[in-house]
Amino acid sequence: MKAILCKSFADIDALTYEEVPSPATVGKNQVLISVKAAGVNFPDILIIEGKYQVRPALPFSPGGEVAGIVKAVGEAVSHVKVGDSVIGGTWTGGYAEESVADAERVFRIPESMNFAEAAGLLTVYGTSYHALVDRAKLQAGETLLVLGAGGGVGLAAVDIGKALGAKVIACASSPEKLAVCKEYGADETIQYTTEDLKERVKQITGGKGVDVIYDPVGGDFTEKAFRTIGWGGRHLIVGFAEGNIPNLPMNLPLLKSASVVGVFWGSFTATQPALFQAGLQNMLQMFEAGKLKAHICATYPLEQAKEAMRLVANRQVIGKVVLTM
Ligand SMILES: NC(=O)c1ccc[n+]([C@@H]2O[C@H](COP(=O)([O-])OP(=O)(O)OC[C@H]3O[C@@H](n4cnc5c(N)ncnc54)[C@H](OP(=O)(O)O)[C@@H]3O)[C@@H](O)[C@H]2O)c1
Repeated sequence: MKAILCKSFADIDALTYEEVPSPATVGKNQVLISVKAAGVNFPDILIIEGKYQVRPALPFSPGGEVAGIVKAVGEAVSHVKVGDSVIGGTWTGGYAEESVADAERVFRIPESMNFAEAAGLLTVYGTSYHALVDRAKLQAGETLLVLGAGGGVGLAAVDIGKALGAKVIACASSPEKLAVCKEYGADETIQYTTEDLKERVKQITGGKGVDVIYDPVGGDFTEKAFRTIGWGGRHLIVGFAEGNIPNLPMNLPLLKSASVVGVFWGSFTATQPALFQAGLQNMLQMFEAGKLKAHICATYPLEQAKEAMRLVANRQVIGKVVLTM
């Protein structure tokens, strides 16, 4: 089969596209998927550069999520069968024509969903659903401020926030990204690279502040956003796409009786599998009912994976980029 290979921890240019052996065996609790599409995620870049929390053994194919058709199942797997259309969480190994996923991270997809759309939803929608529902316990009528709202997890947070009945304020760096956020139902938009975030939120909320902040950006934006939080607010720490891990003066949460809430979706799926699976099934039903819709801004053939990854690295993606096989 064809696959993208990472042979040393280095930048995107060092990746290769070559013929490799197909996965030889499927474990008892695993599923072999004939991959039709693979999602490209920010952590894929961190992993190949050796900057992620976990370093896979070399050589490996990057790619943490795929959509495709089940080719084989392990003896203990009963919830999917050969021929089913599924999504699978793979950690790595997704940028390949065949990939193995643990059965507890494999889900049948609705008939109405195509493979490209399906491949791009597991990580970003899974992360944002977990953050907003399990961690922030976002309620209908609350105000949600989303940073990096045009990116993968950010746009998913806008989509889920609206579906849950929140008032959503989307923040992004360009009018193009904010226009897509509006299409996804954002009630208000702020170009946070040029506008005064605190003043705009004060105007929008009548001085009350926001209930929940969704923060996948970090850097200077974290404290600026936290200063817009209302009484009893929750600030979700999702990621540091800006590159710097911020320090927050601890008087700020005290003054607003507010919480700083960590979100680590990958570990959550492993440590609380039942809650993860129930949430994922609920979310897939929301997709089937038309309440959610993943945004794919570009698709690339597998051999052009480097170009797809560069779009993500260069902050050019709106929603998701997907590889097709
Ligand atoms: N905690 C978890 O479980 C979890 C799960 C998935 C992802 N993440 C993390 O969440 C972050 C976002 O992931 P994603 O897939 O949404 O990525 P993405 O699609 O690239 O979006 C990231 C957004 O961050 C903003 N940004 C600000 N400064 C940036 C910079 N210097 N370089 C790149 N982007 C910058 C950009 O929005 P503007 O241009 O509008 O500012 C961009 O749209 C990453 O750090 C990722 O590792 C965490």
